[in-house]
Amino acid sequence: MNNDLLKEEILKVKKEKNAIILAHNYQTLDIHEIADIVGDSFQLAKIAEGIKSNIIVFCGVKFMAETAKLINPNTKVLLSAGDAGCPMADMASYEDLKKFKDEHPDYLIVCYVNSSIEVKSLCDVCVTSSNAVRIVNKLDKNKKIMFVPDKNLGHYVKIKTNRSIDLWDGMCPIHHLFFTIDDIKSKRITYPDHKIIVHPECTPEVVALADFVGSTKELADFMADNDKAVIGTELGLVEMLIQKYPQKSIIPLSNKAICQNMKKTSLNEVFETLKNEINEITISDEIAINAIKPIKMMLELN
Ligand code: 13P
Ligand code: SF4
Repeated sequence: MNNDLLKEEILKVKKEKNAIILAHNYQTLDIHEIADIVGDSFQLAKIAEGIKSNIIVFCGVKFMAETAKLINPNTKVLLSAGDAGCPMADMASYEDLKKFKDEHPDYLIVCYVNSSIEVKSLCDVCVTSSNAVRIVNKLDKNKKIMFVPDKNLGHYVKIKTNRSIDLWDGMCPIHHLFFTIDDIKSKRITYPDHKIIVHPECTPEVVALADFVGSTKELADFMADNDKAVIGTELGLVEMLIQKYPQKSIIPLSNKAICQNMKKTSLNEVFETLKNEINEITISDEIAINAIKPIKMMLELN
């Protein structure tokens, strides 16, 4: 089947089955076209809260689909690319965090939404890149915080909130490795009239040199109000914005920043997943009962 036919078929089956397709900003433009909602991690989690459809097809990575399932346990949630994970989420294990918690019972544990469901089950509050600063600012000022697993986002939150925060040793390989100080310096020379805007998963050195820092949605909102920018995040968002604003000058900070996991989703996979109702996310009651707590706390505090 060619792509146009596939898109038609997906929309047909979606209607027949009363399904809804949620896609992250990093998905390819083909996937954005057939999605009902495209957004950042928080927008997609928030939208999952009120969904009345029978099926959610999630085009993104596993932790996002798991979050949707936790928030909406009575809806069938399918992950369109069944093996799409997040390497950063894998950098914190249940066992290691449990050990930390047992040894430091006085700490509040804040988890980035990019974490496994088992890790979430040990945490006090969950955050996303768009609300982390706001939420940490609302936590008990007398408590020390362990931020898990992204040391870069954790560092950004620490600077912005002036709180005592210990950082887990995890990071996003794409944002951590593919954007450097040299990239920023060279773009400043080539594009002196462009703002440089980056995701907080970039290293503290890169974040310190940027003009604006934000989640994928916040970077997209910045582009709605500005005509020229160099963007330091996964290429999918940059491509989405170039398509949306063909008259603006939108330059990737690095062409190498591609998240292979985010790119595992194809139209064919969305079609097969929905048609055959495969790649279903299931969560045991034992884990769900604790993992939902930090997510509910996030939704309340936000
Ligand atoms: P956002 O919540 O900003 O969309 O980020 C998700 C992510 O995985 C970034 O790498
Ligand atoms: Fe995970 Fe990084 Fe991919 Fe986002 S871009 S899903 S943090 S590996």
